[in-house]
Amino acid sequence: MSIEAVIFDLDGVICHTDQYHYQAWKTIADRLSIPFDERINARMRGVSRLESLEILLEQSGKNFSQEEKERLAEEKNRIYQSFLRKMTPADLERETFRALNTLREMNLKLAIGSSSRNTALILHRLGLDGFFDAVADGTQIKHSKPNPEVFLLAASLLGVQPSKTLVVEDAPAGIQAAKMGGFVVAGLGDAVEEPGTDFPILALNDLCLICSML
Ligand code: BG6
Ligand code: MG
Repeated sequence: MSIEAVIFDLDGVICHTDQYHYQAWKTIADRLSIPFDERINARMRGVSRLESLEILLEQSGKNFSQEEKERLAEEKNRIYQSFLRKMTPADLERETFRALNTLREMNLKLAIGSSSRNTALILHRLGLDGFFDAVADGTQIKHSKPNPEVFLLAASLLGVQPSKTLVVEDAPAGIQAAKMGGFVVAGLGDAVEEPGTDFPILALNDLCLICSML
C-alpha cells in the first residue's frame, strides 16, 4: 500500500463540534445585532478564531479595535468551551471509533491536523487522549488553513511524506491546505465537491477501502 498515514481534521470530521462553533458565534452576533447564518459560518470552517471573528465583523459596518476583537474572541471561546465541557466519550460516534481502529489495524499511522487551539480539550472529552500517533493543532502553528502548515507539521511529526498521506477534511479551506501541501485528499460533507478533493466520502469507514486500494 502506498498510503502510510491518515491525518484527520477534528471539528466536523472526528466530532460534531462545528455546531458548537456556530452556536457560540451566533450568540456573539445576536448580541451585537450582526447578521449571521450557516452560509457565513461555512466560511469560518478551518480558519483560526481571530480570522473567523474578522469574517463575522465584515457584516457589522463598524470598526473594532484590536482590544475589542480580542475580548470578543475570548468571549466566543468561553461560550464554545461551555459546550465542550459537556461532551463525553459518548459524543464520539461508534462508526468513527470503529473506522479509526480499522485503519490502525491496517498499520496506518494516524494523526490530527486541526486549526483549533481547543484540540487537546476536545480529544480529552472524547476519551481520545494519547490515541493518535501525532497531534498538530492551532497552538503550534503561525498560519491556519488554507495554509498547509498544520498538515505539514503533522506529517513531519509522523515522519511520513505528504504524497503518502491521506488528509480527511470537511472544509474548503482544509481541502485547499491539504492540496497545497501535496497530500492525497478525502472530502466529507461540504468538501465533497471542493476542487482538490481526490476522494469524496460519505463516512470515515469509506477510508478503509480507499487506503487498501491505493
Ligand atoms: C477549526 C474550526 O477546526 O478551528 C474553525 O473549523 C475554528 O471553525 C478553528 O475557528 C479555531 O478553533 P478554536 O477552538 O481555536 O477557537
Ligand atoms: Mg473541520
